[in-house]
Amino acid sequence: MPAYSASAPGKVILFGEHAVVYGHPAIAVPITQVRAKAIVIAEPRSPRGLVRIIAPDIGLETSLASLPANHPLAVLLSKAVSTLQVSHIPACSISITSTIPIAGGMGSGAAVSVAVLRALSAFLGRPLKDEQVSNLVFEVEQVYHGTPSGIDNTVITYARPVYFVKGKLIEILSVKKPFPLVVADTGIKSPTAVAVGEVRQAWENQHEAYEQLFEAAGSIAAAGRKAIQAGKVEALGPLMDENHTLLQKLGVSSPELDALVEAARSAGALGAKLSGAGKGGSMIALVTAETSNAVTTALLKSGAVGTIVTEIGKT
Ligand code: PMV
Repeated sequence: MPAYSASAPGKVILFGEHAVVYGHPAIAVPITQVRAKAIVIAEPRSPRGLVRIIAPDIGLETSLASLPANHPLAVLLSKAVSTLQVSHIPACSISITSTIPIAGGMGSGAAVSVAVLRALSAFLGRPLKDEQVSNLVFEVEQVYHGTPSGIDNTVITYARPVYFVKGKLIEILSVKKPFPLVVADTGIKSPTAVAVGEVRQAWENQHEAYEQLFEAAGSIAAAGRKAIQAGKVEALGPLMDENHTLLQKLGVSSPELDALVEAARSAGALGAKLSGAGKGGSMIALVTAETSNAVTTALLKSGAVGTIVTEIGKT
């Protein structure tokens, strides 16, 4: 029986998280060392339309029909059926695995959606274009994250660094000189919707102050884009540090994130910041080939439950 498989990477946000929800630019990059994978296999001997779902990482083994209608996978598959204009999904199994930390600011939900959608549309003989995949995953994200900017579905679908402004055409960022990053996971699960909701509340209460912080984060993202395009890697460190200070002011850092950021800097990182929604999840540090090991060791000593060393812009 042929198997249709697809995978999608994790991601981190280099600059501009939260501000991006309010229309300011942000930069996100794929993290290819961690991935979500989906495999769809036809099961012609099963009863008509029986779609089995097997996701061992989250302890899920069920059928599509028994999933609550508002479960993310049920929402995704129902949107897929209407976009692909099929009457139903023929009997099959959908197996999902992922090495992306869940609720860790690395886009695990969006990556699972992208992988499932690609594998399923291939199985149905109607492969989707990247733009369609990204748009559908955005619709699913809206159900769960309230007011997502669309940056996660975009960077994960295209699997390339992106300069992203909500509602604008995506801009794939060319990286003149690849640069190494260490990503560290605090191990603290932080649902994006909660942090985004708290920032919205604070923005409503302290409108002017938050507008200024968002504006400043957007300017950092714009400066980051220039530095990346010009290969001025050394300029990125101070921009990351500044962005972290802004995120602290927005109220989305945490003692654990601050400790990791400090530890990375003390061990020689050129800059460090939390990445994603904050309040837990992940942080990133800009390193060099010489400092990468020392920074990784320092992060693990300071409470990180996992680290990834990656090279951004390496093709
Ligand atoms: O999915 P996370 O936790 O990396 O957060 C996404 C970034 C936010 O700016 C906080 C939300 C959004 O939709 O852009």
